[in-house]
Amino acid sequence: MEKKKSLHSYLTEYSQSGRIPMHMPGHKRVRAVSEHMHISAMQDFTEIAATDNLHDAQGVLRDSMALASELWGSLRSYYLVNGSTCGILAGIRTLTKRGDKILVSRNAHKSVFHAIELCGLAPIFVLPPQIPEFGICGSCAPAAVEAAFKAHPDIRLAVITSPTYEGILSDIEGIAEIVHKHNAALFVDEAHGAHLGLHPTFAKSAVKCGADLVVQSLHKTLPAFTQTAILHVCSARVSTKRLAHQLAVFETSSPSYPLLISADGCVRKILEDEAFFEPWRIGLAGFSIWASQLQKLRVFGYEGDLPKEAFAFDETKLYISTHGCDLTGPQLAEKLEEYKIDVEMVTAQGVLAMTGAGDSIESIGVLAEALVQIDAACSFAQKKDLPGLDLPVLACAPEQALEAEFAVFTVQDSIGKVSAEYVWAYPPGIPLLIPGERISAEFASSVNWLLENGVALHKGRSKENDEIAVIAS
Ligand SMILES: Cc1ncc(COP(=O)(O)O)c(C=O)c1O
Repeated sequence: MEKKKSLHSYLTEYSQSGRIPMHMPGHKRVRAVSEHMHISAMQDFTEIAATDNLHDAQGVLRDSMALASELWGSLRSYYLVNGSTCGILAGIRTLTKRGDKILVSRNAHKSVFHAIELCGLAPIFVLPPQIPEFGICGSCAPAAVEAAFKAHPDIRLAVITSPTYEGILSDIEGIAEIVHKHNAALFVDEAHGAHLGLHPTFAKSAVKCGADLVVQSLHKTLPAFTQTAILHVCSARVSTKRLAHQLAVFETSSPSYPLLISADGCVRKILEDEAFFEPWRIGLAGFSIWASQLQKLRVFGYEGDLPKEAFAFDETKLYISTHGCDLTGPQLAEKLEEYKIDVEMVTAQGVLAMTGAGDSIESIGVLAEALVQIDAACSFAQKKDLPGLDLPVLACAPEQALEAEFAVFTVQDSIGKVSAEYVWAYPPGIPLLIPGERISAEFASSVNWLLENGVALHKGRSKENDEIAVIAS
């Protein structure tokens, strides 16, 4: 058998090939921000008396998490080694009981849907408006949250994603006021915003906006290993006893010390170095000057006033739309490849370049110059607005739909039937359809549009792109 390269050699070679990583993790493999991550077997431990225990921290880990709590301004903070995913599962389970109603902004990460499934919750979805010329979800408006509570005063928990993958922020202060007025709790998925509130030019974190519980992925924008995250308890509405139990359910019983060292080092670096965010921030300020020269490509949030569907925006996410030019998202990604730039996500009509603490004017400048050149070489085009999302009707609980007998149909023939699987387009895993939802003609036409535009769908059960698993009748 031909001996293939080891993963170690493969990634080392790729790392050294001069690529510009416009994707997670946030350290971007830059030595100046990731020295604390140069870890060896000498620091790989298990929970012995001397090394503390993440699941019952009394020593060095407790002290480190206290520093983290001070940095973000929470009541108490917990490092996570299974990503924001485990924080979302544990947090939702902590704040609900089986059968409770939970308000969810529909553009939530798949872990939120998985929590609904596992905890047997009744979801009340709020669909943020689409921003038509960018084809992305806008903010979740306080008025929409208020309307959901009016229709369902017994909602126990609201889960809002802010910022989104593309950097859209919601009015968390406004939403918190409404949620608390109705005696419910607010959990903010801030997985993409661990940097928020840590520099005056970044937006405020939900930790300081009235949320009760906030989860952040350290690895997405800050210098800490992939899988590291942090869960902030911000009010007495969260029982830390229940939370500790749920973290024990959803998180490994052998937390990795190398991951924890990277989280601890990340917190200390930010606390100790006042200028820590300067290179990244200066790079972004430079980007805004270049972005103003673009004629056909458009970068969300970098062209004057925000569209009315967006409350605010995290400028570290660069969503570049090809809607006004003769390129598609995949074609733009291909052109960026020629400049050795790897992007985080490619959509039918755009790409997402994700910046992080390891970025500076050098890396962001390469992206900006590439965009200016690509923009000069492409032509204007009048494209149709991207199809909007409709909120499908939930016919039965997701877990019921997953446990039922199912059959596979073409998407067209499935109209009117009830889905028995999740359907996702692109990362970041926001489902177009969840199990238990009735398939509409609008859903079928959105799927057709995505397939015509070269977007592959990810599904739990059916194999072919134009098929779907439905509850067998
Ligand atoms: C909005 C959102 N929330 C949560 C997560 C899960 O984060 P993690 O990968 O740290 O588990 C993601 C992952 O991409 C995400 O996009």
